[in-house]
Amino acid sequence: MNIYTFQHEEDFVETGANLIASLLLTNPKAVLGLATGSSPIGIYKRLIDMYRKGFISFSRASSYNLDEYVGLPAGHSESYRTFMDTQLFDHIDLPLAHSHIPNSNAQDLQEECRRYDRMLEDHGPVDLQLLGLGHNGHIGFNEPDTSLVGGTHVVELQEKTRTANARFFPSLDDVPRQAITMGVGSILKAKQIVLLVRGEEKAEIAKRALQGPITTDCPASLLQCHPNVVVLLDQEAGRLLT
Ligand code: GLP
Repeated sequence: MNIYTFQHEEDFVETGANLIASLLLTNPKAVLGLATGSSPIGIYKRLIDMYRKGFISFSRASSYNLDEYVGLPAGHSESYRTFMDTQLFDHIDLPLAHSHIPNSNAQDLQEECRRYDRMLEDHGPVDLQLLGLGHNGHIGFNEPDTSLVGGTHVVELQEKTRTANARFFPSLDDVPRQAITMGVGSILKAKQIVLLVRGEEKAEIAKRALQGPITTDCPASLLQCHPNVVVLLDQEAGRLLT
């Protein structure tokens, strides 16, 4: 793992955006694995800026998002589709048909999971997978458990995750109880993984994930098995790393 800790937010953002921009320059048809959460927001802003200046184009690229809440109507302000549209897709030239997010309003969620995996099989592997780190060590919405699932699946969200994400909803009760997520198997198939970790409250879980034992109890620790992981942390999140 290549681990970089940044003192300044703008360097964190610049480095993350440059990894994606240089991929697009060498491979305009790149398959991007994208993430929601607060960590990638600055990087998406910077990519929009690079696109507007004419440095990069997404017109031939495609994207696959990690996850989506179950139970939110289409167009809900907190759905990950809305998040991605607002934070990135509405401002770049990625064709709508090239941006994929699990459809949690599908009639048959199990079939939707199979459809998502087929798309990843047919059009993957993902060239660069962006990831955030959950407070409990989850990646995507793969929650700590005694075993983990390889492919896309429906997951019950743990209370810690619901509580952490309650800040975006009127109350804890409004936070969905389920989500669809790509599985750890699909995530680990990406050619390169870029893990983004920000904030003091992530310091302990970052230490466990990056330098602790590899265990399903901390799904992000499985990233230690991947041959090409870049970890970008801010100083607060990286404070316990040796
Ligand atoms: C949510 C998402 C995860 C993301 C996590 C971290 O739970 N499902 O994919 O990694 O948030 O979010 P943040 O970047 O805000 O710390």
